[in-house]
Order: sequence, then structure tokens, then C-alpha cells
Amino acid sequence: MSISSATLDKLKRCAREAAAHAYAPYSRYAVGAAVLCGDAIYGGSNVENASYGLSMCAERNAVFRAIASGERAVDAIALYTPTHGAATPCGACLQVIAEFGPDAVIVCCAADSGAERRYALKELLPAAFRLQK
Ligand code: THU
Repeated sequence: MSISSATLDKLKRCAREAAAHAYAPYSRYAVGAAVLCGDAIYGGSNVENASYGLSMCAERNAVFRAIASGERAVDAIALYTPTHGAATPCGACLQVIAEFGPDAVIVCCAADSGAERRYALKELLPAAFRLQK
């Protein structure tokens, strides 16, 4: 599936805007994510907790928001960090993205637009967990 550059621009903007809503008083590391499902876009940010292990990543918040809104297929996800380099999603987030978007495109963006990197989900998580029969 090919995604237009206008749609990808919208997705990236949504991820950047979502980072502004990050609740990250412990790490001070804001992350924003935006998930593309057909024509719809769902944003999410990281939300931390005083019990650190309960913190949730931006990507999973965005995917869960999409799924809880009735979506079942993720076409792409953009991730934004206000840093020089572009971060890739953590392993837990990759596994969650794989559940709904095994062929998803992952766009990693940073404050420095030259740092943008694009991956296929399968490049970052080539052997995602699947239940075996
Ligand atoms: N974080 C994300 O939101 N996404 C990732 O893929 C990795 C890390 C968040 C979790 C925590 O709030 C902060 O970044 C520092 O790890």
C-alpha cells in the first residue's frame, strides 16, 4: 500500500502535536505518536506514573486509542521526539504494532527534519511473536 506524502505529512504533524501532551515528569522525555488506519489518524503521547513501571509509551497509547475506536488495521505509525536524532519504537511497542499492522510503515521523526528515518515494521521486528498451533 502506498501512502501519499500529504497523508504522511499529516501523520507526522499529528505525532509532533501529540508530543506536546506527553506526561513525562520523571524521564523528561516527551514522545508523540500518530497511527494511520485508512483515512483516520489517532494520536497518543507517553504517559508516565510515579510507579515507573506503569508508564505507557506514546505508540501503544496511539494504537490502543485506534483499536478502542473500532479500527483493526494499522497502515502506518509516526513517532516524534523533540531530539536531534530520531528514535525507533521500543520492542514492546513493535510487538503491539505487529498485532494490527504487520506490514505497517514506521516513520521516525525528530526536531531535526534531516534525522527522519522510515522502516517497515518487519525490518525492526522480523520475528514478531505469534501464537503457534
Ligand atoms: N517511550 C515511548 O513513549 N516510546 C518508546 O518507544 C520508548 C520510550 C517513553 C517511555 C518513557 O515515558 C520515556 O519515553 C522514556 O523512556
